[in-house]
Amino acid sequence: MTEQVAARSDVEPGGVLPADEVKATEEVLVLDFGGQYSQLIARRIRECGVFAELLPANADIERIRARKPKALVLSGGPASVYEPGAPAFPTQLLDLDIPLLGICYGMQAMALGLGGKVEGAEAGEFGRTELTLTGGGGRLLGGLPEEQSCWMSHRDVVREAPEGFTALASSPSSPVAAYEMPDRALYGIQFHPEVVHTPYGTEILTRFLRDVAGCTEQWSAASVITEQVEKIRVQVGEGRVICGLSGGVDSSVAALLVHKAVGERLTCIYVDHGMMRMNESEQVVETFSQFGIPLIAVDAEERFLAKLAGVDEPERKRKIIGEEFIRVFEEEAGKLDDVGYLVQGTLYSDVIESGGSDHAATIKSHHNVGGLPEDFDFELVEPLRMLFKDEVRAVGMELGLPERMVWRQPFPGPGLAIRIVGGEVNRERLDILRAADAILQEEIRAAELYRQLWQSFCVLPVVRSVGVQGDGRTYAYPIVIRAVTSDDAMTADWARLPYDLLERVSNRIINEIRGVNRCALDISSKPPATIEWE
Ligand code: XMP
Repeated sequence: MTEQVAARSDVEPGGVLPADEVKATEEVLVLDFGGQYSQLIARRIRECGVFAELLPANADIERIRARKPKALVLSGGPASVYEPGAPAFPTQLLDLDIPLLGICYGMQAMALGLGGKVEGAEAGEFGRTELTLTGGGGRLLGGLPEEQSCWMSHRDVVREAPEGFTALASSPSSPVAAYEMPDRALYGIQFHPEVVHTPYGTEILTRFLRDVAGCTEQWSAASVITEQVEKIRVQVGEGRVICGLSGGVDSSVAALLVHKAVGERLTCIYVDHGMMRMNESEQVVETFSQFGIPLIAVDAEERFLAKLAGVDEPERKRKIIGEEFIRVFEEEAGKLDDVGYLVQGTLYSDVIESGGSDHAATIKSHHNVGGLPEDFDFELVEPLRMLFKDEVRAVGMELGLPERMVWRQPFPGPGLAIRIVGGEVNRERLDILRAADAILQEEIRAAELYRQLWQSFCVLPVVRSVGVQGDGRTYAYPIVIRAVTSDDAMTADWARLPYDLLERVSNRIINEIRGVNRCALDISSKPPATIEWE
């Protein structure tokens, strides 16, 4: 461990250091005009080894200048550039004298702002589109195949590039599908290099970042760890820190980072409310003890079940679990002396400012069970605040977190309680549901489908129906299998699991678990259904 640094008083609330203070890497800023792929652009740039962040397209020029970016990327957006009120190309950006790359709307706005011609096309281009290079493709596209496919999503087109620019490519509806003015380091492309359906997208981004902007690749999971550890040491100094673990990847990775920075001055608290999946609590305890991280694991199952007795209304269940969680956490935290800091697994997607307007940053509650009371007098430590979920996973792998925890599917804070529907949560039902869920997970992992699914789980509706097992009739619960694909849980589709897998799962659940005589498959998408049942 390196030398400790004294705690800082000028750290912003939320543990964010003033820009450029500890940051070791170069950065590129993505000015967000509200496009659906803006975050993806930042992620792809980071995958090219260069740190990228989003700022609203109307961000103050001095704010941008202060960040000393190596280059700017202007994102796509939903507006039409020539409509009244549409966000215009901020011409002051030219004063920064750094490379600019406009993508889709960003390209059109730049073209219009610099004297080019943008118009609505007869036919828009949505999806895979053929791109033809002109004049060899210039600095940005030169050497790539003359004919290639790319992904487009636009109705307006650049009819004429501004004076001094060279057109580099065209597509059936776009006379100027790419342009450049290398002397001023200004570039524009109509298509989306950030989506996987643009085969040369990464190559084009890399050329811009490396050859045009002169970025040297240095952003990686390993560099994040070095940088964050340093940052945490600066923030926390000699202070003591606590972290609430949920068993999920975010809080685990956050805890590992903080532990790397401050060692035993971090204490983790894990509240086992009795509604976790099979062996999950044991895994948390085992993993953290392997890392030598001080952990208080509280077996609070009895307390939670006593509070949940007789409650069948879903929101009441959630509320009871949330409140009880806070109570247990407070009791345990209260036993520790001199704690000044609380670790939160806030991610970049929770704090991002986007859509071309200055949205206030939102802060994720400490634990998705229900958050902590406002009178908690801790300063937050948020080492994942700059990271996308896939980067958190990469950092987790780099830190040696077991794959099982790194790739865990999302799991609701109130756990299995919200999957026992239409009746109270009690130990018998929890045991049945936990056993069914374990079988489903085991088979899904064996079929190598676990990572392809957003979530897969079982639901226990509190109804009994008749069945026949052996020579006798049974009167038992059904188990519903729910497996969905999704990108962000806002929408979801039911997963087309193979029939033989479903057959195995159903047979095993009914044969191995007493109290279940039927298996059903939920084939509803979200909307109109939700992912969870309650
Ligand atoms: P729904 O069911 O609304 O779920 O489609 C969207 C995502 O949120 C998770 N979820 C919860 N997470 N506490 C949580 O921490 C809850 O009460 C809760 N309800 C739903 C759900 O698992 C899915 O990923």
